[in-house]
Amino acid sequence: MNKRLGVLTGGGDAPGLNAVIRAVTRSALRRGWEVIGFLDGYSGLIENRNVVLTRNYISGLLHRGGTVLGSNNRDNPFHYPVRTETGIEYRDMSDQAVANLEKNGIDCLVAIGGDGSLAIAHELAQKGARVIGVPKTIDNDLLATDQTFGFDTAVTTATEALDKLHTTAESHHRVMILELMGRDAGWIALVSGIAGGADVILIPEIPWKLDSVIAKIKERQQEGKYFSIVVVAEGVKDPSGKFVVRQHIPTAHTKIRLGGIGPVLAELIEDASGFECRATVLGHLQRGGSPSASDRVLATRYGVMAAELAMAGQHDLMVCLKGQDIKTVPLDLVARGTRTIPPDGQLVQVARALGISLGD
Ligand code: F6P
Repeated sequence: MNKRLGVLTGGGDAPGLNAVIRAVTRSALRRGWEVIGFLDGYSGLIENRNVVLTRNYISGLLHRGGTVLGSNNRDNPFHYPVRTETGIEYRDMSDQAVANLEKNGIDCLVAIGGDGSLAIAHELAQKGARVIGVPKTIDNDLLATDQTFGFDTAVTTATEALDKLHTTAESHHRVMILELMGRDAGWIALVSGIAGGADVILIPEIPWKLDSVIAKIKERQQEGKYFSIVVVAEGVKDPSGKFVVRQHIPTAHTKIRLGGIGPVLAELIEDASGFECRATVLGHLQRGGSPSASDRVLATRYGVMAAELAMAGQHDLMVCLKGQDIKTVPLDLVARGTRTIPPDGQLVQVARALGISLGD
């Protein structure tokens, strides 16, 4: 039997997943290996739903958003929902996941995912599976890599939205608030806020005060600027110190789905200052669409390196970006926490030097 790689995409999707799948598959096929793609994240591995990734299957994938393999952020093999006569039961299906790798003759699995999916990959590795991880998330919040693919595209989408909000804000002399994704990290908000010329950027890493936000908007008015642009990350807490939660999901890796701080902030600013405000929640637009050139290249570099490591017999590693180079780190590093923005770091200092208010 030919040597075989497996590939799966786990967690929320991100632009560039297809570029990784393509890069892994092309590298492997050129060396005479076969590639099997498991469908819908870990559920495809547990239920043994898969496809053979041929040259034809991966053709035309480079520029396509999403993932042709499907993904899922509720399918932890160690706590897997199984429908029974009495309802849903959660079972440990990890043995079955590992057995299916064996059954399909997979020498190494390339797991493309965020912190949750890669932590699962490491747990499977401890049960004997041979796994290489590839770091994905628009949030850019994974430890042990300087950048995840998907982030650059999300920032581009957010920046385009800011450009559009600017023109309408200016016409109507309004305060426009844009809520962006990122969970506990403010990377998308800070980077696109700088790129999009925001006046105020609120991120989870820096506590904020309503008075400071209003002071900045007033300062602009005194300068003859009768509109302002406020960017707020979804993980920013409300004035009572609580997350604004859209949904509780006890069974998922991330127990709460954030969303709604933008409209809350709009109401607070309008009530306290009388400025006319409008809020936009950009939501899943940030996850969709064609990957940027930079994400295509990063995803491709990750995919090629992951395939090379896997074919060289390495495992329980994650590929990562360190400076300009693709390197590797132990897979368990990713589960050790979140990479948030250093509040005194260069990027924050740049924003402050420009006169952007961080709300503190
Ligand atoms: O982790 C990526 C992300 O898009 C976060 O920024 C956001 O909080 C979350 O996923 C949304 O998840 P879902 O797709 O389950 O709504």
